[in-house]
Amino acid sequence: MGGQKRVFSGVQPSGGLTLGNYLGAIKRFVEMQEAGIETIYCIVDLHAITVWQDPARLRHATRELAAGFLAAGIDPARSILFNQSQVTAHAELGWILACVARIGWLNRMTQFKDKAGKNREAASVGLFAYPTLMAADILAYHATHVPVGEDQKQHLELTRDIAIKFNTDYGVDFFPVVEPVIEGVATRVMSLRDGTKKMSKSDPSDMSRINLMDDADTIAKKIRKARTDPEPLPGALDGLKDRAEARNLVNIYAALADTTPEAVIADYGGAAFSTFKPALADLAVARLEPLSAEMARLMADPAEIDRIIAAGAEKAAAIADPILNRTFDIVGMIRAR
Ligand code: AMP
Ligand code: TRP
Repeated sequence: MGGQKRVFSGVQPSGGLTLGNYLGAIKRFVEMQEAGIETIYCIVDLHAITVWQDPARLRHATRELAAGFLAAGIDPARSILFNQSQVTAHAELGWILACVARIGWLNRMTQFKDKAGKNREAASVGLFAYPTLMAADILAYHATHVPVGEDQKQHLELTRDIAIKFNTDYGVDFFPVVEPVIEGVATRVMSLRDGTKKMSKSDPSDMSRINLMDDADTIAKKIRKARTDPEPLPGALDGLKDRAEARNLVNIYAALADTTPEAVIADYGGAAFSTFKPALADLAVARLEPLSAEMARLMADPAEIDRIIAAGAEKAAAIADPILNRTFDIVGMIRAR
C-alpha cells in the first residue's frame, strides 16, 4: 500500500462522537494511517454550521472531536489533522464547484431531504449546497480514497460527477475521480432503540446511541436496554437476516473485537441475549473506556489541542493552496503571482 494513494475524510463537530462515528469512520482512519498511506483528516466546522450551532458549543465540539481523533490513535506526525475553516481553500473551491454542480443533482440528495425535514423553505442555503463543499474538501487535495460510512455514499457519487463535469467543461484532466471506501462490518451502526435507523448524534433519545464519552455504567445500561427480539442468537449468520436489532449487536461486537460476524456467531450461536448483552457490554467498556479517559485528559489542555490542529492546517494548506491556484488558472481568473 502507500504510493500514490491519498486518503481524505471529514467528520462534523456537531455534538459528541458516537460509537457509529468511531467504528464506521475514526477506527478505520487509524487503520489507514497504520498501513502507511498518506492520510488527511478534517474536522468540518464549515459543514457543521449548515444547521444552527451555538458558538461556544461548536468550539467545544471541535476540540472534543480533535481529542477523539488523537485518543483513537491519529498521530499528527503521520496524519494531517486540522479544522476546515483554517484552510481557506475549502470555501474558495467550494464556490467554484457550486458553479459546476447542477441544482437537479443536489435535489436528489437524500441527506438534505432528511435534514431539512418538512419545512424545506426554512433550511439554510448552506445545507442544500453542503455536498459541493464536501466535494471541495476532497478535490482540494486531489484525494484518491475517501473512507466513510454508508450514509455518505451518495455524496461521494456527486463528488465524482462534479470532478468529471469540471474536467469535461474545461477540457482538462485535473480532478481525480475518487474511490469511496465503504468497508467493514460497521459501515452502518444502527440505533439501539430501532434497528432500521442509523445511530446518530442528533437522535433525540440518548438511549439510542453510545457516546464515546459515556461512562462504563451508562454503556452497560444502554446495551442491556437495547431493543432485541426474544429469540436466542441463531447458529448461523443467515438466521439474522430479518432480525435487524440482533444483527446490529453482532456487528458491533465483531467490529469492537476486530473479528467477523461469522466468528461472533460461532462463539455465541444459541446464546440468549441475557448472556450475549453482558459480554458485549464488557467488550464495549474495555474498548471505549481508555479512549474516553484519554479524551478527557487531552481536553484538560485545550491550548495544546488548538496548537496541534493549527499545525495540521498549515500542512493541509501547503497541499491545497497550489491545487486551488491551478483551479483558478484553469477557470480563467487572474491572480497575483
Ligand atoms: P458525521 O458525524 O455525520 O460527520 O459522520 C462522520 C463519519 O462517521 C462519516 O464517515 C459517517 O459516514 C460515519 N458515521 C456516522 N454515523 C454512523 C453510523 N451510525 N454507522 C457508521 N458510520 C457512521
Ligand atoms: N458529510 C460528511 C458526514 O456528514 C462529513 C464530510 C465533510 C466528509 N467533508 C467530507 C467526509 C469529505 C468525507 C470527505 O459524515
